[in-house]
Amino acid sequence: MRNDEHPPTSTGETSGMVWRIRSSFIRYVTGSGGVIGIRGRAGTVKTPAGVAFYFGLDDASGFDPMTLSGTLAFSGAVDFTAHGGMLSLSIVDPWIIFGERSLISVLFGDQRVPLAQVTASPPTFSPGSGGVLEWSALPTHLEATAVPLFGDVYTAGVAMDPISVRIEASRVVATD
Ligand code: HEM
Repeated sequence: MRNDEHPPTSTGETSGMVWRIRSSFIRYVTGSGGVIGIRGRAGTVKTPAGVAFYFGLDDASGFDPMTLSGTLAFSGAVDFTAHGGMLSLSIVDPWIIFGERSLISVLFGDQRVPLAQVTASPPTFSPGSGGVLEWSALPTHLEATAVPLFGDVYTAGVAMDPISVRIEASRVVATD
């Protein structure tokens, strides 16, 4: 999945991350008559794997483009609701924290919770229109801290969907 080939259809964002979270969870929620809502700077994107969620880049000041480490903070929320509201899970304001062990965290209430481990590889850099950094289809796996969010159904380490990120270089290059 290359998100430059699948620009967001419901947002005007040009830097952001694309993630289906977990395809079987989307099938489960929609197949049980549930609904998936999109809020804020989240949107949807068509990919070959189906519709994915898009979160716009909010803040890259914690990311160091020299070492490719630190935090890319995205904004927006995806709300899953099913079984008459018994199932209610929101994926809110995801961050990708690149480090020795890279992670995706989300806001759960007022706490930031590690959701998935990311197997990060270096991004590609395409010059032109200021330059674009792109990470394509990085594998992700569920963190133990997020097992309760999915009703303890998935076990820690289970494969989630791959994540892709597209960042305009001007957003991460220091200007001062
Ligand atoms: C009235 C409440 C609920 C009922 C009747 C229910 C029922 C079910 C059933 C029948 C399945 C199997 C679906 C299949 O194999 O296709 C399932 C799977 C699942 N349920 Fe629930 N559930 C309920 C609440 C919840 C809650 C609160 C969560 C928390 C997020 C949850 C998360 C899941 C997950 C993650 C799966 C596995 C989906 C997959 O990847 O295939 N469920 N549930």
